[in-house]
Amino acid sequence: MMAAMKTVMITGARTGLGLALAREFLKKDWGVIAAGRRMDELVEDVRNNSNTTILELELTDEAALRACAEKLAGVPIDVLINNAGRYDSSSVDSDEVVTSLNDITRVFTVNAIAPRLLADLLLPNLALGTEHLVVGISSGMGTFARLQGRGFDSYSRGTDNYEATHWVYSASKTALNYALLAFGISHPEIKVSLINPGWMRTNIGGKDAPLSTEESAQQIVELILAHETRLPQSALVDHSGKIMEL
Ligand SMILES: NC(=O)c1ccc[n+]([C@@H]2O[C@H](COP(=O)([O-])OP(=O)(O)OC[C@H]3O[C@@H](n4cnc5c(N)ncnc54)[C@H](OP(=O)(O)O)[C@@H]3O)[C@@H](O)[C@H]2O)c1
Repeated sequence: MMAAMKTVMITGARTGLGLALAREFLKKDWGVIAAGRRMDELVEDVRNNSNTTILELELTDEAALRACAEKLAGVPIDVLINNAGRYDSSSVDSDEVVTSLNDITRVFTVNAIAPRLLADLLLPNLALGTEHLVVGISSGMGTFARLQGRGFDSYSRGTDNYEATHWVYSASKTALNYALLAFGISHPEIKVSLINPGWMRTNIGGKDAPLSTEESAQQIVELILAHETRLPQSALVDHSGKIMEL
């Protein structure tokens, strides 16, 4: 008997890491629910794959979040990857961090609040799946270890208080970690894992980053496929699976 196709839902799937993850899962013959904004611009190879389901999803719009859950009613989701994210300045090289309440709130909504609401809304779908896994694409910048001068990895920029300057993005990732780990504690039947994808060349990471999205996505998909042994419950790991201090 053929095994049923597994399904992953990925937010922010039109660009960057989200797109690379979608391509990687399609290569593994998974079904991909690709969610994001301006999905009419999604590249053809993913759009035209018969295993892709496209979902327009603006994460700051509560009605859109609820409509997405309604559209997916009864659809099993094996793995939910909360990948979409928003930075707190125009580029990684800028120290001009957003200062208005509206802009700060938007970063927190996209990076932490919407991912938790989505996990809550899609709980019935996760229960219908077989893997019962929620992944949060987090960041070393969201760790207290990094803020306090510990926990640097090969991509970090040294002790220049970068995380403190970019407190909006960093704190929103800390909030993501907390919100998803709390979700896992409230729903012990669901496994929650936080993954730091490393510094990648994307709209958020900029052009000088050492990693391509393909390199990071390949490693992350390997971790997810072997999550029973390689992804610890309720922990933050880097893209190679190494546990990081929160
Ligand atoms: N690049 C790095 O070095 C790095 C390092 C650590 C962690 N991360 C994390 O990796 C994840 C992917 O980011 P990336 O580097 O691949 O950058 P990216 O290409 O800019 O991807 C971010 C995605 O999130 C989507 N998004 C932003 N606001 C949204 C909203 N309101 N509603 C729905 N979708 C929204 C973006 O859509 P639009 O294009 O329409 O805005 C985009 O598709 C993020 O969570 C990021 O924080 C990245």
